[in-house]
Amino acid sequence: MFSLPRGTQDILPQDQPYWRYVQEVAGELCRLFGYRRIDTPIFEETALFVRTVGEGTDIVDKEMYAFQDKAGAGLTLRPEGTAPVCRAYIQHGMHSLPQPVKLYYFAPIFRYDRPQAGRYRQHHQFGYEAIGEADPALDAEVIDLAWRLYAGLGLAGLSLELNSIGDRACRPAYLEALVEYYRPLAGHLCKDCQARLERNPLRLLDCKREQCQPYAEAAPRSAESLCPDCLEHFESLQRSLSRLDIPFHLNHRLVRGLDYYTRTVFEVQPREEGAQSTIGGGGRYDGLIEQLGGRPTPAVGFATGIERIILNLKRQGVEIPGEAETQVFVSYAGDVAKEQALDLMARLRREGIPAASAFDRKSLKAQLRQADARGARFALILGEDELRDGAVTLRDMEGGRQERIEAGKLMEELKWRVFGKS
Ligand code: HAM
Repeated sequence: MFSLPRGTQDILPQDQPYWRYVQEVAGELCRLFGYRRIDTPIFEETALFVRTVGEGTDIVDKEMYAFQDKAGAGLTLRPEGTAPVCRAYIQHGMHSLPQPVKLYYFAPIFRYDRPQAGRYRQHHQFGYEAIGEADPALDAEVIDLAWRLYAGLGLAGLSLELNSIGDRACRPAYLEALVEYYRPLAGHLCKDCQARLERNPLRLLDCKREQCQPYAEAAPRSAESLCPDCLEHFESLQRSLSRLDIPFHLNHRLVRGLDYYTRTVFEVQPREEGAQSTIGGGGRYDGLIEQLGGRPTPAVGFATGIERIILNLKRQGVEIPGEAETQVFVSYAGDVAKEQALDLMARLRREGIPAASAFDRKSLKAQLRQADARGARFALILGEDELRDGAVTLRDMEGGRQERIEAGKLMEELKWRVFGKS
C-alpha cells in the first residue's frame, strides 16, 4: 500500500472550504489593491534561486529539490515565489508598464525541511510583489494588505515584527561590526552559528538555540547602523504604519532566511507561539532584479503559508462559509419513477439547486437515510402513488414534515424554499 511522501498532504474535500475561503478573501484584497495574478512554472533553473535566495541560506544549502532533467539541465522545484516573479518581470519586459507592477500568486512551494506541525516539504503560498517603486509608502501598503488579509480572515492575536537591515551602502559596515562582536564569542556558540559566522553572519541573530540567545540579544542592531537614506526610509515607513493604525513591534533580531532583502523586513507571528510558526513574511528587495540581469529596479513583497493560515483558523475556531451542500435528494421507487427522478434532478441542477440521488435501487427508506447522511435539506419522493397522481412528496429533512405537491408546481415551490424567491 502506498502513502503520501513525507511532508506532503492531501487536501481532502472537508478541508477545501478553508482553501476556497483563504483564496477568496485574498483574491478580493488583491483586486482592491490593484494586484494582478501571475502563475510561473513549478520548476525553474537552479541558478535562479542560488543567485537570489543565496548560498549560505538553509533553503539553498539544504532544502532545494534540485535535479537534472534528461538533457542535463539543472532545475529546481520552486522553493519560494519571489525570484520566479522577478524573472518573469524581466523576461516579459514589464519595466515598460506603469510602475509599480503589482503581481500576486497562489503557488505550491517545495522545501526539503524537517516536517512537523505547520512545516511541510510541499506547502502553498499566497504571495504578492510590487515591483518598480522605492517609496516607503509602498512598503506600508504591502504590509497593510497582509494585515487586512489576516483581519479579514478572522484571525486574532497576531504580531507584526518589523526591522530594517539596510542596503548596499550601510550593510557591509554593519556586518563587519556584527562579525567583530561575535568572533570572540565563537566558542560559546552552537555549531550552526559557528558556520554562520563565516558564511551568513546576519543569520546569527535569529538562531533559536538556547545557548546563543544572550549573545544575539546583545548584538549590534542593524536599525542603529543605517545610513541616512535607509534611516529616513525606515522612519517614514513607521509613520505610515501608525497612520494606517497598524501596530508593529520593532524586532532587532528579525533578518529573514533569504539573502535578497534590503531595508524593510517584516513577519507576522501568532503571539503565543515561537518564531517557528511565523505565518507570513516579506520585505524589500531592491537589488534582486539587477542581480538577475535586469535594470536596477526596487521592489517589495510578501508571502504567507496557506497551511499555516488554516492551522490558525482551526486553532482559533474561526467559522468559515460552508460548502454548497446537497439541497435536494431525489428518491424513487421503481424503474419508471427512476427515469422521472433523473429528469427531475437535471431540471433542479439547471435551476442552480444542488441535487443528488441514488442509482442502485435501494428501498425508499434506505434512500431517505442516505439523504439524511448527505445533509440534504429536502427529499423528494417519487413513489407509485405519486406517479399515479402526477404529484411529488416533499419531505423537510429537518422536522420530517411531508407534503404532497403537484408536479407542475414543484420547481417554483423548491426555488422559493431554497433561494427565498421563485
Ligand atoms: P518565507 O518566509 O520563506 O518567505 O515563506 C513565507 C511563508 O511561507 C512563511 O511565513 C510560512 O508561513 C510559509 N512557509 C515557509 N516554509 C514553510 C514550510 N516548510 N511549510 C509550511 N509553510 C511554510 C518567502 O518565501 C519570500 N518569497 C516571501 C516574500 C515575498 N518576500 C518578498 N516577497
